[in-house]
Order: sequence, then structure tokens, then C-alpha cells
Amino acid sequence: MPITVFPITPGFAAEIGDIDLSQPLAADDVAAIKRAFWDFAVLIFPDQLLSEQQHLDFASHIGPLETSIFALNKNAKLRIRAELADVSNLNMRNEIWKENSRLRALQQANRLWHTDSSFKYLPARASLLYARRIPPIGGHTEFADMRAAYDALPADLARMLTGLVADHALAHSRARTGFDNFTEEERNSLPPVPQVIVRTIPENRRKSLYLASHAGHIRGMSAAESLALIDRLIAHATQRQFVYTHRWHLHDLVMWDDRCTMHRGTDYDDLRWTRDMHRATVSDIANTCDQEGVAVATA
Ligand code: OGA
Ligand code: MN
Repeated sequence: MPITVFPITPGFAAEIGDIDLSQPLAADDVAAIKRAFWDFAVLIFPDQLLSEQQHLDFASHIGPLETSIFALNKNAKLRIRAELADVSNLNMRNEIWKENSRLRALQQANRLWHTDSSFKYLPARASLLYARRIPPIGGHTEFADMRAAYDALPADLARMLTGLVADHALAHSRARTGFDNFTEEERNSLPPVPQVIVRTIPENRRKSLYLASHAGHIRGMSAAESLALIDRLIAHATQRQFVYTHRWHLHDLVMWDDRCTMHRGTDYDDLRWTRDMHRATVSDIANTCDQEGVAVATA
């Protein structure tokens, strides 16, 4: 039986049925999933029972896997495999983190609009987030359609943005939450990287805004002008009509296209409820400036 694609918003989010991701996938099913992924940009696979390995195996169909940035800190012990980002509120002992823990402060930035790994020279292409435990209330994930947001820009603004390059850094988004407690190792391994603001998605030739709270400085602009423009564009792109809110069910796997979406986690009582999510992340094929043919000096 072929997969079933059930749109839940016109053109942005769809549920995928009649597929068991724990099993080896037929080439036709993989092709159909990819087609749906390029048409939509957020795919929800409800009710999947996946081991860590099965989760990673499915992600590998979309492209090469990234390593979690938590693995950069050589002293940090990881709760889960280094190829999976630990998007939980649990410490190494599987206990809910403490109010003043470093981990909690570091993860606060997931509440800001962003796209994954735009602070890496080779950013993420896709993220696959799997719900192993969810809180009874709160803890949703919101997604913004950056293609629709681009299409709705006034023409003169769209023209002005074309070819602009922003420097993205983890330190920028963390600074927005008041966090500056990076180790020397983390700081050195994550210098700012250039990314275009307008990109083209190769599979469908649609243009998209490419923004995140990781974006700090726009080349050729002052710091104040840069921040004002980034904040204005993020506000534009996250208007209600561009946003889908995912209310998690246990064992949902949600896959999104990091090239043309932003997302953020919503609030929940993280000192009371366990929320245990694992994210597999697939790398893009090149830095966005290279993909767009925009020449830049490295920062
Ligand atoms: C992520 C992320 C938000 C959430 O996994 O990349 O930003 O709702 N998650 O957990
Ligand atoms: Mn994220």
C-alpha cells in the first residue's frame, strides 16, 4: 500500500499515513515521502515506534547526519547517541533538570524562532524530531513557512534582500536569552558563519527567507540596522497565517525542512513535567552563499 499524504494546512504541513518507519523502506515510499516533503515542508508521521537506530536510519534516507553540538563539549556526558540532539529537560541521570542548570539555560534559545544549525557553515537541511515523552499540557512546536513569508513581501523589500548575507552564530541567539557561559572549546569551534537571507529551494525553485535568532550582523549594515531588519523580517514571517502549531502526541515523528521554515518550542512547566524529544538532523549540501552563488569573505 502506498503512503497516504493528508494535508493539514494548504501547502505547508501534512500528516503521512500507511507507513511504518521502523521497517526498511521501499524505494517508492522513500520517493513519495521526498515528494511530499518538497511540496509541504513539515511532515508528521503519527504513532511511530522507533529505536534510536531506526530513527537515524530513516533520517539517513534524507541525507547525511549531523552530530549534535553537545558533542563539541568533550567534558559533557551525553544522555543519548551523539548523532541525536537531546531536546529534553532531562540530565544525564534521566532526572528533570534543576532550575539553575546550565543545560536549561542553554536550551532556552529553542523558545526563540530559529532554523537548526544555521550557525554552522554547512547548515541543516532537515530535522526529524521524535516524541518519546510529552507533557500533558504545553510544550508545542510552532513552524513558520518562510516560502509563504517570502511570497508576501513587498516587491521592493524582496529586491533589497536579494544577495544580502547575514552572519549567524550560536552566541547571537544565546545572547538574546542572556546566556554567555560558553566553554572556550565551544566558542572556538563555533565562529560566526555567512548565510544568505533569500534562498532558492532547488527541488521546487521556490524562494524562501532564511532567518533565525542566530542571525546577528548583516554585511554592509550597522549592528543596529542589522538587528532592526532581522527582527522586522522575523516578525513578518511569523504572522499567524504563516504558522502551523504542532500539538504533540506521543510517538509522533515530525520532519521539517530547515531551508524554508523556522520553528520554536512553546512554554511548558519544565520543572514539573518530563518532555523527552530526540532530534536527528540532516546536513545541507553546501553553505547557502555557495548555493546561491553569492561570493563572501569569511567573517
Ligand atoms: C529542535 C527544537 C523545539 C521543541 O528540536 O530543534 O528547536 O519544541 N525544538 O522542542
Ligand atoms: Mn531547533
